[in-house]
Amino acid sequence: MVDLKAEFPLRDDVLYLNHAAVAPWPRRTRDAVVAFADQNIHLGARDYPQWLAVEARLRERLGWLINADPADVALLKNTSEGLSVIAEGLDWRPGDRVVISDQEFPSNRIPWQALADRGVDVVEVDVSGEGAEQRVIDAIGEGTRLVSLSSVQYGGGIRLDLAPIGRACRERGVLFCVDAIQSLGAVAFDAAACCADFVVADGHKWMLGPEGLALFYARPAAREQLAVHQYGWHMIEAAGDYTRKDWRVAEGATRFECGSPNMLATHALDASLSLFQELGMDTVETALRERVTWLYDGLAARGAELLSPADPARRAGIVTFRLPDEAPADTRARLQAGGVVCAERGGGVRLSPHFHTDYSVMERTLTLL
Ligand SMILES: Cc1ncc(COP(=O)(O)O)c(C=O)c1O
Repeated sequence: MVDLKAEFPLRDDVLYLNHAAVAPWPRRTRDAVVAFADQNIHLGARDYPQWLAVEARLRERLGWLINADPADVALLKNTSEGLSVIAEGLDWRPGDRVVISDQEFPSNRIPWQALADRGVDVVEVDVSGEGAEQRVIDAIGEGTRLVSLSSVQYGGGIRLDLAPIGRACRERGVLFCVDAIQSLGAVAFDAAACCADFVVADGHKWMLGPEGLALFYARPAAREQLAVHQYGWHMIEAAGDYTRKDWRVAEGATRFECGSPNMLATHALDASLSLFQELGMDTVETALRERVTWLYDGLAARGAELLSPADPARRAGIVTFRLPDEAPADTRARLQAGGVVCAERGGGVRLSPHFHTDYSVMERTLTLL
């Protein structure tokens, strides 16, 4: 049994509803980082082979989280880097098109727009309201090379049904890329079931890890379409054989990891993800859904205008709202003064609890409103 109170000793005056931005760590992650720091001051890197075992375990855990082979998972710096590796790795032709949503975080828009000088067009599809998936599928036309979507939009928190979009892409020979940073650790995710070619997500939101270490999944057939642009000792087949002069790019996803890994963040994210494996994603998703529903209904009862979808199946961990008689910036400032950690996004105030959030945190937040 996981003792959630012990894992999340947030101060009583901190009402943390900002997991869609940067999440608090569980205690076990702090312990792993402290233990790693202690090793470093007392032993240096003497036990590096053990660190490599932690790194291998982290890849296993990430594979588990998205139902993928760990050999297809690379550890990159962040989501933006992962999306840029894809954008810069494909051999674009003038007239190629990339389909995204009209609500993407800049990380999943700018790398594609930056291809304009190669003749690539970016098409934005409205994903609010009913029929979003079909509108995305309908936007796949001549010249479409890739569809890149956030599984959950960062502002209003719209959750897309990825499988039909992924299937449509696969049938048409179009690549499907998912920015899953607002999903992984919040709701179950299956890269195979949604026919994703690429999945990218940093660990500092719903996965409860530190900033600066991201999952980068590339399906083997899609990986082969990406030219490698960063080189070093680590991304070759015989990494570690430093005297050997001939080399070839690593078979697996490590080909995108050019040099020394971020071992500190590796230890931290590995610890964070152990919590999800202990609990199971079903438990996590159910607990989060209950909290999000509670918040959504509570806000509606207080007359707030809800900007997030009413259909629970269309939501993950985000509830965005505004009050009829107050600017969102003022509402957020008022909440912040009362101890609430939240964000102004998507035209309103964005609240994002997690599975561990105590109901008293949400009750006190609604009382402040
Ligand atoms: C949907 C989405 N993608 C990407 C990012 C940022 O990614 P990173 O900082 O890992 O590049 C965010 C951060 O808020 C986000 O919400």
